[in-house]
Amino acid sequence: MEPATATFLDRVRLELPEVEARMRASPGSHHPSLEAALGQILSAGGKRIRPAVVLLAGRMLGGKPDRLITMAASVELLHTATLVHDDLIDGSLLRRGLPTLNASWSPGATVLTGDYVFARAAHLAAQSGSLVLMDMFARTLMTIVNGELTQLFGSHSEDLRQDYYDRIYAKTASLFELSAEGAAVLSGSDEETVRRMKAYGYHIGMAFQIVDDVLDFVADPRQVGKPVASDLRHGLLTLPTLLHLETRPENGDLAELLRNRSLDEDGLMEHVEEIRSSGAIERAMEEAREMAATGVSQLEDFPGSPDVDALRELAHYLVERGS
Ligand code: IPE
Ligand code: IPE
Ligand code: MG
Ligand code: MG
Repeated sequence: MEPATATFLDRVRLELPEVEARMRASPGSHHPSLEAALGQILSAGGKRIRPAVVLLAGRMLGGKPDRLITMAASVELLHTATLVHDDLIDGSLLRRGLPTLNASWSPGATVLTGDYVFARAAHLAAQSGSLVLMDMFARTLMTIVNGELTQLFGSHSEDLRQDYYDRIYAKTASLFELSAEGAAVLSGSDEETVRRMKAYGYHIGMAFQIVDDVLDFVADPRQVGKPVASDLRHGLLTLPTLLHLETRPENGDLAELLRNRSLDEDGLMEHVEEIRSSGAIERAMEEAREMAATGVSQLEDFPGSPDVDALRELAHYLVERGS
């Protein structure tokens, strides 16, 4: 299938520049180096999918535009800050086609800049005036950080599949959940609506990350800016690998070999080829599509509107995107 285009962005074309402006608006003066670093991070762009979720969900539910823009900026800054720290942790030198902060700065300066962006995100979240929303932000950040630490130290669980779902919830779905659920809270929605929007965010977030993990195997490395199977190279078992391993019980040690990164390049590529031709990619995509469909089904009871259509389309885009 052709990669989907992001036409849902047309529905937020007017608000996104305001979100960008709010992300950049500085509440005080700061060191010129920090100013330069913030400029570098914010100019690098990004797909701005999480702000789109906030804006579309909030407008569908009758939220006040100004509050939604502030929340969208806050969510995207939270996302940006986690990436600043993540790139340092992962030693990644390129993000969004541009050099990362850690490519030129010391780890200390990179950590502090990330902290500063977290603080800016919290500052904006506080402007919502909603303690519930601020609590949701704090909890989401705890989930993300705990997920990164679990990945760093490794999990002791025997259930590789459950480990995987926990990991992608922490690193990705939790923030999509916050975007959709938070928009509903901010719009004064009833409990059932908040629950539905939370489920929408959760499912599209899980689908998004599964597709990301599939793309790691099949996308053009030049387009994604990472080597083929970079997850497996780092000993990270994602859904295509897990599905493949499950069909090969005779190969019980393989998971350990892969996790410990004890294969040489030829051995690794052999497994990459095997995974690619095993049908595991297709099955992982099927799972992602099912997740996205469950997300979309949460929207069934809302009256038809261009915003509901855009939220549906956004879910479709997340699973059919080419990069
Ligand atoms: C990247 O997220 C980090 C993950 C959770 C996989 P995105 O793919 O949304 O990154 P940007 O914001 O568009 O750069
Ligand atoms: C990034 O995770 C997402 C978070 C830290 C929340 P990854 O390290 O798996 O993703 P990329 O490849 O750097 O975007
Ligand atoms: Mg990374
Ligand atoms: Mg990482």
